Amino acid sequence: MVAVVNFGGQYAHLIARRIRDLGVKSQLVPPEISPAKLSKLSPQALIFSGSPFSCYQKNAPKVDPKIYELDLPILGICYGQQLIAYQLNGQVSSYQSKQFGKEILKIEKSKLFDGLASPQIVWFSHGDQVDKLPVGFRVIASTKNAKVAAMENPLKKFYGIQFHAEVSHTPNGDKIISNFLFKISKVKKDWDLVKLKENLIHNLKKDVGKAKVVMAISGGVDSLVASVLLKEAIGKNLHLVFIDTGLLRKYDLPDFKKVVKTVGFTNVKILNAQTSFLKTLKEVVDPEEKRQKIAKLYFELLEEEARKIGHDLPAGRQVKYLGQGTIYPDRIESAQPSKHADKIKSHHNVTLPHGLKLKIIEPLADFYKDEVRKLGKILKIPQDFLNRHPFPGPGLAIRILGEVTEERLAILREVDYIFISELQKQSIYNKVGQALAALLPVKSVGVMGDSRTYSYIISLRSVDTEDFMTADWSKIPYDVLEKISSRIVNEVRGVNRVVYDITQKPPATIEYE
Ligand code: XMP
Repeated sequence: MVAVVNFGGQYAHLIARRIRDLGVKSQLVPPEISPAKLSKLSPQALIFSGSPFSCYQKNAPKVDPKIYELDLPILGICYGQQLIAYQLNGQVSSYQSKQFGKEILKIEKSKLFDGLASPQIVWFSHGDQVDKLPVGFRVIASTKNAKVAAMENPLKKFYGIQFHAEVSHTPNGDKIISNFLFKISKVKKDWDLVKLKENLIHNLKKDVGKAKVVMAISGGVDSLVASVLLKEAIGKNLHLVFIDTGLLRKYDLPDFKKVVKTVGFTNVKILNAQTSFLKTLKEVVDPEEKRQKIAKLYFELLEEEARKIGHDLPAGRQVKYLGQGTIYPDRIESAQPSKHADKIKSHHNVTLPHGLKLKIIEPLADFYKDEVRKLGKILKIPQDFLNRHPFPGPGLAIRILGEVTEERLAILREVDYIFISELQKQSIYNKVGQALAALLPVKSVGVMGDSRTYSYIISLRSVDTEDFMTADWSKIPYDVLEKISSRIVNEVRGVNRVVYDITQKPPATIEYE
């Protein structure tokens, strides 16, 4: 595997993704990782990511210098290159002519650029540059404004590039990463989803044995794929629970029933808990409080179900595990706050209550969303189910800003249905990453017929994203937006204004709370 040291750069996940796409396992690790802990992961190479910091800043993230003595090939990208230079006694400075965006790169002969001709188009995004090379290094690429656009110490197998090879704006970036992995680091290909599927099922069988697993299923892609894996592994010992929180969209329960039939799940319980969720959310307006309260109730209900299922079974056959559809980015976004990453939101399925008696089983914890979809395809789950956009565990509660009430839920459900079904009709749904409607708890004045209205504002949001960690707003054609907006204000009582959200992530998040 290849460890990507994440210094907080916005593209760190993209680096990991590119490596996996090239058939090699990759994992993000924090800069604080000790050399011993890193060695335990048995990486075959390291990649240092970018960062919003300058390496000479006092609180800039750095690695333990002993990591340079582990005899591992290292590729530093952007800040990663600067840090290598800085920590190995070179020099890094801030430059007036900052380089952001496309640049023409002149390259010299180096294993890193094998098969590439000079010049190349590359993507820059940092104001600092390496000024003085550390001992043993030489320059292997430059641009008009950057003397050291890439550097190497082939003896130690340390490489640095000032540009971002992982973004699509660097057209031959994959080739550079591939050269580093296969020609320089001699890394072996081991990330093959067909084989991984077999391993996952094998390991689930081994780990769970004859015990029972209760799995919370929502009809979304992640919990569906995780449930099918579990079904393949343990068959009848899998018990699915679908909790109708009342925070669902119009089509969630009907879609779920379709899935159950198509996939052939048995042991399925649909639990109507609408009243309990509304009660627990009464007068709650703080987003984190909402998330915590929903998660708490959700897990209480699941534990209760597990108790009921295991009620009269002999020891060893009782429900021992709680299955979850957690995927890799969920774990990262809800990470315990570290020095370089703030906790953004308590993601539903990672917010486990204290004292939970069931052991958690998360077959997809190492996978990115598109890998989960590919696994689903390998498991022969129909494509329609796999193309569903993500829908967060707390459901519409985090798309109703402010207090969640029955009236607001009913309005949002209708709005969402119009938005999503129009996107499907116009064949836009499968082209965007995630679309959603949010209800803003403010009212504005409008006029309908000859009467004054005073109603809610709806915000529509649709984003294009590869990994849900960063996202751009979708450029949906105006005529489609116009149709959706006029349908909403004409068909849904209680809404008289529709806005379209044109904010990227960062600085906004995808969901509203
Ligand atoms: P944000 O809003 O953080 O969302 O940009 C990133 C992705 O995660 C989804 N999301 C969640 N998924 N439980 C989930 O299973 C949650 O609590 C949760 N909160 C956000 C969000 O829909 C988007 O796809």
